[in-house]
Amino acid sequence: MVDAEAMAAALAALRAGDVIGLPTETVYGLAADASNPAAVARIFAIKGRPSSHPVIVHLADLAQVPLWAREVPPAAVALAERFWPGPLTLVLPRAASVPLAVTGGQDTVAVRVPSHPVALAVLRTFGGGLAAPSANRYGRISPTTAAHVREDLGHDVPIVLDGGPSAVGLESTIVSCLADGVRVLRPGHIAADAISDVVGALLGPPDETTPRVPGSVVSHYAPHTPVDLVAPDAVADALQAHIGAGRRLAVLAPASPTIEAPAIVCWLAAAADPDVYGHDLYAHLRTLDQAGADVIVVARPPEGHRWVAVLDRLTRAAAR
Ligand code: TXA
Ligand code: MG
Repeated sequence: MVDAEAMAAALAALRAGDVIGLPTETVYGLAADASNPAAVARIFAIKGRPSSHPVIVHLADLAQVPLWAREVPPAAVALAERFWPGPLTLVLPRAASVPLAVTGGQDTVAVRVPSHPVALAVLRTFGGGLAAPSANRYGRISPTTAAHVREDLGHDVPIVLDGGPSAVGLESTIVSCLADGVRVLRPGHIAADAISDVVGALLGPPDETTPRVPGSVVSHYAPHTPVDLVAPDAVADALQAHIGAGRRLAVLAPASPTIEAPAIVCWLAAAADPDVYGHDLYAHLRTLDQAGADVIVVARPPEGHRWVAVLDRLTRAAAR
């Protein structure tokens, strides 16, 4: 995993205003000193991300939040106490000192205490906040291994700490705790009902008046190969139609092949458990994307609150 030498190099780079690849339990992040606008600007340049998109500030513990947020409402404290360290991001009113590059010019700031031991060790030693979006080029699939980060960004990011495969595999649940109440802005491993168990009724889904979560632009997390998301009972028909049209296929569906055909160049078995499905999803999308297919056919997973985050990412991967 990460030895003392790699750790020291990573900390030196962060202190110098450089960007590193950082493992977290959700996905790998592209991390830099959140209090240094030039360092944050480098993240945006490497990702190719529009500067209006805010980034999450990663912290070592809840005690640091008041340095970044001018208000920490009781609901936010309750959620932090329940779920941190872990895959939950809180959107709060920002403190005046937070660089504009971090907030994308909004009056809110997103903060999270990750649970990955390497991320926590870096944060504790660094002492300050680390801005870290997912370590992928803008709009592409988030990385869940150090190798993914090196493949995508290795030229631009010499230091990538290897913390093994991300345990969760999907980005954190983002919850805003603002004057109007508590709202899930991005679904994740921590489902909405687990949030409402702690804070009571939630506000409805985001609209034009809620803080922008550009990770929720419709086409996102996208492979290069087009994705066809089909109803589970329509997989066989969809495969036949694509094959009939002369297309080569890569497939993510629960069962083993219902059709044997040379046109099916890759078939990955989709997990029946949503946590396992979410853990594997991005690695699977990369494998399917590299299989040389014309189309990736994905069987739509079941309905139900435990599948919301997976379905969200699949819907975005299929939108273009
Ligand atoms: O799991 C995660 O959250 C990963 C790991 C690395 O921690 N990070 C991540 O970052 O997914 P990113 O930048 O790919 O997505 C962050 C999301 C974006 O959709 C962004 O718009 C939203 O958080 N966000 C950040 N600050 C915000 C704010 N002040 N208000 C609303 N949304 C915000
Ligand atoms: Mg991202």
